[in-house]
Amino acid sequence: MSLLIDKYNRKIEYIRISVTDRCDLKCLYCTPKDSDSHSRRRAILRFEEITRIVRCFADMGVSRVRITGGEPLVRKDMVSLINQLSHINGINDLAMTTNATLLSKYAIDLKNAGLKRVNISLDTLNPETFKMICGCGELNNVLEGIRDAVNAGLTPVNLNTVVMRGLNDNELIDIVHFAIENGANIRFIECMPVRRIVNLSKERFISIKEVKSLVESHFELEPAKSSGGGPASYFRVKGETIKIGFISPVTQHFCESCNRVRLTAEGILRLCLGYKDGIDLRDYIRSGISDESLKEIIMKIMQNKPQGHQFSNDKCIPIEQSMSMIGG
Ligand code: 5AD
Repeated sequence: MSLLIDKYNRKIEYIRISVTDRCDLKCLYCTPKDSDSHSRRRAILRFEEITRIVRCFADMGVSRVRITGGEPLVRKDMVSLINQLSHINGINDLAMTTNATLLSKYAIDLKNAGLKRVNISLDTLNPETFKMICGCGELNNVLEGIRDAVNAGLTPVNLNTVVMRGLNDNELIDIVHFAIENGANIRFIECMPVRRIVNLSKERFISIKEVKSLVESHFELEPAKSSGGGPASYFRVKGETIKIGFISPVTQHFCESCNRVRLTAEGILRLCLGYKDGIDLRDYIRSGISDESLKEIIMKIMQNKPQGHQFSNDKCIPIEQSMSMIGG
C-alpha cells in the first residue's frame, strides 16, 4: 500500500540516495571543472540516518532503493550500509549506480550483503577517449569491474552510455557488441544540460532518435518489456537475450510517470531532478523528530512534487547543481 501519492496521482515507490558527492572520475557531463566544494564530512548523513530515512519511506510504500554518488564506492564501508538497507522490510529492489573503478574489489561482498544489481557508466571502450571523457582513471578497471559484477550475480547489469557527438557516437555499435559479449543490458542516454557544462551538452548533444537509428542500422531491434517502470524504452537485439534501452530526458521527458525522489548526501530530499529546492531531512532528524512526525512531513511535502522538469532543447533550464551532487 502506498501512502506517497502526489497531486498528479503519481505513486512514489522509488528513492535514489546519494551517499557522497565525491568521485574518483571527473566526467565531462557530470562533474563541473571547478568542482571543489565537496560537502564537509560532518555534513553528510551517517549510515544510521540513511537507514532510518529509508525505513520511514518503506513504511509509506517505497519498495525500491538505488545508491548513487558521486561514486558510492569511494565512501568507506559501503558494504555495511548495503547490509543495513537490505534488511529493511518492504525494500525488495536494492541497486547501485557506480562507475565500476572499484567494483572488482567489492562485487562479491556487496552481493553477499544484499545488493541486487548495478548500473555502470560505460561511455567508451577506447582508453584515450576514456581519459578525455572521464578526466582520469583507467578504463581497464571499469571493464574488469563490469565482468566481476556479472560474475558476482549483480544482475541484470545495466551499462549506461551518455552519447556525445564527436566523442563516443562512433562507438555505439562496439558498445552494443561488448554488452552482448558480457551479458549486460545497455542503455543510451541523452546528455542533460547541467549548469556550468551547458555548452558541452549543446554542441555535443545527440537526440535519442538519432542514436536509435544509428543502432538500428546495424542491429535488428524488437520491442521488449521494460522492467520496474523506469524511463528507458527497451528493445531486444534479435536473437540475443540482452536489452538495449533508450533514455530521452531532454527530447521526450517522462515526467508523467515519474515514480521517484532523491536524497542528497547531505540529507536534502529533492522531489524533481530539474528543481534545486528540497527539504532538509537531516535538520529534522538531528533535531530529534519522531518517525511518525517525519513521515507526516514527507507525505505532506510530496504534494509539492513538480509536474515536470523543463530542460527540453529549446527551452533549456539547466539543472542547477552538477549530477555528481545530486546523484544522476
Ligand atoms: N546527462 C545524462 N546522464 C547523466 N548522468 C550523469 N550526468 C548526466 C548528464 N548530464 C548519468 C549517467 C551516469 C550516471 C551516474 O548518471 O548515466 O552513468
